[in-house]
Amino acid sequence: MLLTVKNLTMKFGGVIALNKVSFGVEAGSITALIGPNGAGKTTAFNCITGFYKASSGELSLAQEDDEPTDLLAILGEKFQLGDFINPVSFAHRLYYKMFGGAHRVTRAGVVRTFQNVRLFKEMTVMENLLVAQRQRLNHNLFAGVIKSSAFINVESQAVAKGAEWLEFFGILDSANRLAGELPYGDQRLLEIARALCTEPKLICLDEPAAGLNPQETQQLNSHIRQLRDEYNITVLLIEHDMGLVMDISDHVVVLDHGEVIAAGTPAEVQNDEEVLRAYLGLVDDEEVV
Ligand SMILES: Nc1ncnc2c1ncn2[C@@H]1O[C@H](COP(=O)(O)OP(=O)(O)OP(=O)(O)O)[C@@H](O)[C@H]1O
Ligand SMILES: [Mg+2]
Repeated sequence: MLLTVKNLTMKFGGVIALNKVSFGVEAGSITALIGPNGAGKTTAFNCITGFYKASSGELSLAQEDDEPTDLLAILGEKFQLGDFINPVSFAHRLYYKMFGGAHRVTRAGVVRTFQNVRLFKEMTVMENLLVAQRQRLNHNLFAGVIKSSAFINVESQAVAKGAEWLEFFGILDSANRLAGELPYGDQRLLEIARALCTEPKLICLDEPAAGLNPQETQQLNSHIRQLRDEYNITVLLIEHDMGLVMDISDHVVVLDHGEVIAAGTPAEVQNDEEVLRAYLGLVDDEEVV
């Protein structure tokens, strides 16, 4: 397993958005996370990718020649009362709040896109891709001012990587346009391209087909396959388009009311009674006639 999720629980006050959710994502697979609105899918992504710190549970990411990364431990501890009194730990926690979580998880190899497109719309397409690679760029002001060869090298590598992914998605022509000017479908692709620039092991896509027309969805389908087959990138996918899910997924996990109600191959979950009930609201005996 590349990602192992064990007993993941997320509480918001009294609301239990995820209740002991367990599933695995096999390396080199396309795994789909499906379920009705409000099932907890995006919350699961938020926990896996470090946007939220789960209330409890385990998240483990396998690493090739090293120990697995504990995706919860690298987020550090939550703010404690003592942090507000101790200036050092307060500064430490504040720094983490501002820059921490998600980017530590990204460095470990997990990246995500959002249900609602989040781009820097006033920046160009290429600038969006460079921002994503900032962790690798040279922040040395002096190197930047004198334009040292190392500085130029890293910059041009970042541009080349951005261009490579734009070409993959067929939007290289738009590299110098403002991101906000792109047609909606291309903005979605740009968001995926931006995530890919971080060279992830696992990419988590939150409803990538939402708002796309059938032709765009078909193209997305083949792009996602290519990520798995040609780039060896593992894909975790939240999607409501069942045609897409059943067509490309190796494994499907079904959430309902914050709990896993079924998991298996597309054929298995499609015929699962509980899944049908969750989706169609079938209430066998009690149905009002
Ligand atoms: N930050 C939050 N604060 C309080 N409650 C939240 C928060 N985020 C999510 N929830 C609650 O958790 C539950 C699951 O929401 P989530 O967004 O994960 O669902 P989803 O499966 O992604 O649904 P959709 O298909 O509509 O996107 C909902 O009841 C939601 O109101
Ligand atoms: Mg959601």
